[in-house]
Amino acid sequence: MQVNNVRLEAVGVKFEQFPETDYPEVAFAGRSNVGKSSLINALINRKALARTSGQPGKTQTINFYNIEEQLYFVDLPGYGYAKVARASREQWGKMIEYYLNRRVPLGMIVLLVDIRHTPNENDRIMMDYIRTAGFEPLVVATKADKLNRSQIIKHLKIIKQALALHSIDQIIPFSSMTKQGAEAIWDEIDQWLAY
Ligand code: GTP
Ligand code: MG
Repeated sequence: MQVNNVRLEAVGVKFEQFPETDYPEVAFAGRSNVGKSSLINALINRKALARTSGQPGKTQTINFYNIEEQLYFVDLPGYGYAKVARASREQWGKMIEYYLNRRVPLGMIVLLVDIRHTPNENDRIMMDYIRTAGFEPLVVATKADKLNRSQIIKHLKIIKQALALHSIDQIIPFSSMTKQGAEAIWDEIDQWLAY
């Protein structure tokens, strides 16, 4: 998709705050600091529409980006940030579960994992949430610029195994620095939209 017009349309933690327009929705999930906001910026060719930060826990609300009046990119708050109080972790869980299970326009989920690390317990819990809600995610392995080619291949296999994916083709290595993978991710989104 050629993207010229994007805007942050809604920011919310509750259903009533989400957009009423039923454009199809792609949601981006993953650990705090994994690069969700950076990926969204790369896909829409903006440096900083989605706020990014070196400090984990930047995005704490569900943010809806209106893409060309055709679809929403939904930046979900990250998980696994140790300093977050247990009460707000529980709230996070409820909010995410509710969103994944009840949000009707939601049609595609992108799960981000850091290519350098084996997905952990939290990633597997997220995967369970996603599958329980009836989705099989596209997995994006972020920060690919930090590894060389042979390391990338090795780590993709580790991720495939840890998340019990059907195929390694379900994972796209990506870097917001080099934009490696951005086109492949758009291809998947366009394919889903056309379907
Ligand atoms: P939360 O909003 O806290 O959940 O984080 P997030 O997943 O939105 O991460 P964000 O995009 O804010 O990026 C976190 C940090 O990782 C920032 O310092 C980014 O510059 C860095 N980062 C993101 N993507 C990449 C990448 O592909 N390569 C490298 N080297 N750094 C990246
Ligand atoms: Mg963010």
